[in-house]
Amino acid sequence: MCGIVGMIGQVNTKEILLKGLEKLEYRGYDSAGLAFVNDGVQVHKEVGRIAALREVVPAEADGLVGIGHTRWATHGVPSVPNAHPHQSASSRFTLVHNGVIENDEQLKAELNVDLLSDTDTEVIVQMIEKNFAETNDVVEAFRQTLRVLHGSYALALIDAENPDVLYVAKNKSPLLVGLGDGTFNVVASDAMAMLQVTDQFVELHDGEMIILTRDSVTIQDLDGNVKEREAYTAEIDASDIEKGTYAHYMLKEMDEQPAVIRNIVQKYQNESGEITLDQSVRDLVLGRDRVYIIGCGTSYHAGLIGKQLIEQIAGIPTEVHISSEFGYNMPLLTEKPLFLFLSQSGETADSRAVLVEAKKLGHPALTITNVAGSTLSREANATLLLHAGPEIAVASTKAYTAQIAVLAVLAFDLAQAKGVDVNFDLMKELGKISSAMESVMSQKERFQEIASEYLSESRNAFFIGRGQDAYVGMEGALKLKEISYIQAEGYAGGELKHGPIALIEDNTPVIALVTQPHVHLNNRGNVKEVVARGANACVIAAEGLELPTDAFVIPAVEPLLSPLLSVLPLQLISYYAALGRDCDVDKPRNLAKSVTVE
Ligand code: F6R
Repeated sequence: MCGIVGMIGQVNTKEILLKGLEKLEYRGYDSAGLAFVNDGVQVHKEVGRIAALREVVPAEADGLVGIGHTRWATHGVPSVPNAHPHQSASSRFTLVHNGVIENDEQLKAELNVDLLSDTDTEVIVQMIEKNFAETNDVVEAFRQTLRVLHGSYALALIDAENPDVLYVAKNKSPLLVGLGDGTFNVVASDAMAMLQVTDQFVELHDGEMIILTRDSVTIQDLDGNVKEREAYTAEIDASDIEKGTYAHYMLKEMDEQPAVIRNIVQKYQNESGEITLDQSVRDLVLGRDRVYIIGCGTSYHAGLIGKQLIEQIAGIPTEVHISSEFGYNMPLLTEKPLFLFLSQSGETADSRAVLVEAKKLGHPALTITNVAGSTLSREANATLLLHAGPEIAVASTKAYTAQIAVLAVLAFDLAQAKGVDVNFDLMKELGKISSAMESVMSQKERFQEIASEYLSESRNAFFIGRGQDAYVGMEGALKLKEISYIQAEGYAGGELKHGPIALIEDNTPVIALVTQPHVHLNNRGNVKEVVARGANACVIAAEGLELPTDAFVIPAVEPLLSPLLSVLPLQLISYYAALGRDCDVDKPRNLAKSVTVE
């Protein structure tokens, strides 16, 4: 959560910093701020989005060195005093921070100065000033401060007395240095923010600080040892992070799903069309006695589907856990567990906490993520990439289907390696599914009608199904609630009568998925039960299991893989329900895309 940018150059930095912050808005949009050194320091902040910040930054404000921040509030309400950048008492030092300082209360008590905000950040910049008063050396003052911080941080600091240096540090929060052409350097929480000026980035490691000038980058550890590191080229096409002609990123990303599935097929097959994973990945999983899938939100939901795939295709016992629960309530583990982390961003703090625990216990970890070089990727023993392209909309869509497809590839590869017969050809089936996805996506008007017919007035909604359909229903409910603010529940159909059916009244929308042949009659029974109590039931069924009264029929595909297709109607219905309520689809309230606090 929160995004930071910084730039030191020979041209004014304001526009580059503002554009960079716009690209980081997915990380939080409670407030935003900028600071420049230019004959002293200027700070501009506003509550809300970058667009609101633009309104308050005077046209003439600018500087050759600057920092910026977009905030997802953790300590203190969204307000101008709590917005970053924060300044030291004399205003000499100005700082932006992404992360959470766990010992902020203790540090505040030790410092004994009046703070202007409720944040955990202001204390850092005040400490830098105090340490500077004692050392008269900014680098040393910064280093001494970093040594006492507990928690996560990506920091960028400017000194009003020295416009020729930008100071940066990282621990557990993402941060990259972007290399300029010798006349400037930049920093950002995500490469996307600075693709506008460079595609050359240097990765920073936890516990490092960086001293940036216009033409040099010096990386040091907290003992002052200098580290050498090669730059890499960010392989993101700048056009991938633009909306193009789409009204929303979410719509663009939903539409990209057929191409993402085809891309996965291409990336994970050899010239003869067979699935090939690196032997190292196979070796990591085979020989383990149980897979523990760990994830949050949509990634957790993909994990529920993945469990069925790994168990039923590869015959390996698998459990799925919510990261934030698992970290603190670890179940009894088997002797040889394999931890499988699912994370679009690869930065989710709850998941990382589990990875740290797993490593402490000496267990191997595999990460499935969309972001090469992300924390969960770097820290696991191996990574499988989603190859889905950047996902910008806060509500995850293409990462969910990509996660399921890659989990299917993994399950299939393991089955092959174990000599287990599988009764379908995965690559052919994925090809068929990507065409079927195109057919579903070409019928958007129908989903707009369904959203308007079933969801325009309702306060709540249910999604029901059995087996894979129940898990897809949970994802459908999450999509609907997060972007339209309609209270939604995803339930296993058979479970309704054990309590939730009490909530069904006249016109309660119930969206039922019927794609699993072995339980479709049971689920039809559940639909009848809710209709008998007044529900407005909308059935989405697979061809061959449909009734004439069903709202929508999707092509029949291998039932284990049907979530890849059946989730599309639910994503689209949620999207149109949110549009119908004038909600900000891409940036729903209270949320952020990359959740880097526990
Ligand atoms: C919902 C959504 C979130 C994320 C969750 C985990 O649409 O996007 O529930 O799935 O915050 O994020 P990652 O996958 O980045 O670990």
